[in-house]
Amino acid sequence: MVKTIDWIDGKVVMIDQTRLPIEVVYLECDNYGEVADAIRKLRIRGAPAIGIAAAMGIALAAQGIHAADFDGFVRKIEPAFVMMLSTRPTAVNIRWALERMRTFLRSHKDEKIERLKELLVEESKRILEEDVKINREIGRWGAQFIKDGDTVLTHCNAGSLATGGYGTATAPMLVAKEQGKRFSVIADETRPVLQGARLTAWELMEEGIPVTLITDNTAGALMKKGMINLAIVGTDRTARNGDVANKIGTYTVAVLCKEHDIPFYVAAPLSSIDFSIPSGDLIPIEERDSEEVTNVFGKCRIAPEGVKVCNLAFDVTPAKYITAIITEKGAFKPEDIKELSCPDVEIEGVRISIRK
Ligand code: MRU
Repeated sequence: MVKTIDWIDGKVVMIDQTRLPIEVVYLECDNYGEVADAIRKLRIRGAPAIGIAAAMGIALAAQGIHAADFDGFVRKIEPAFVMMLSTRPTAVNIRWALERMRTFLRSHKDEKIERLKELLVEESKRILEEDVKINREIGRWGAQFIKDGDTVLTHCNAGSLATGGYGTATAPMLVAKEQGKRFSVIADETRPVLQGARLTAWELMEEGIPVTLITDNTAGALMKKGMINLAIVGTDRTARNGDVANKIGTYTVAVLCKEHDIPFYVAAPLSSIDFSIPSGDLIPIEERDSEEVTNVFGKCRIAPEGVKVCNLAFDVTPAKYITAIITEKGAFKPEDIKELSCPDVEIEGVRISIRK
């Protein structure tokens, strides 16, 4: 399985996702500004992965600080928190990871400065390790929804590359494969950045899972022909009422699923759920550079010079279109996500209960 990000010899090392699948190149960051830049430029992307990167950026920032005492240390590390938080607005995982690093920092105020630096590295590595375990749990719950012979649709990339490993939307697929189920995947190419074509198709081929790549416009036609049995996607931020922000085009897939009576699942670690906001209307939606739409990878122009562009990177799928949200604690109907409690419900014929 591909290693998305790691802390190696005092550096944050990440696979440069803008170069995939043409070449596998690793980027080494030795200061937090480089990590922030990598997040902004999508060299690392996917909600959990950018949360991990932000935490490691803080650990990197800590290494360069000279401070006489704890308060001085906190003052000097603050600009790194501000910069990391400003990189991308939609994925709540960045805020989640930064809050965790800040709480950890405050709870170690009696440590010597040099020890504090080591501890922050250890905490960021723990966030990475825990993410992989969480995704495995999502996989165990989610695999129940994949039956022998199914074809699963996915959108964007919520695979290993979008996380510390295993993926969220791909985790149920990987576990279903381990369980010996035979199924195939259809990957939406996901315009304009093509995470589906460049990353999901590549990852699933590496894992030996049969995958067919389609243009985003094709999903509806395949559903009408009965060629898709379920959809599983990831999320950048899920609100308390179960509304889900994910890559632009996810809403379209969800509406199409409803029309064709196809279950639509969202794989979401708890770190992607923003319990502080009541509905998806409050989720900030990132707008990216128009060149992502007018040019193919900054090179070949495909639209007239000067054309007005709307490049929303994410959309919000209302809870009513979602069959279940699959977390590391179990699968929940979207309306139950706020309580994280749906003892013994039945979703698509699968009986689900919360495991302690
Ligand atoms: O712009 P991106 O590539 O960071 O968008 C990623 C997505 O929309 C993913 O589906 C989401 O982050 C979930 S990743 C487990």
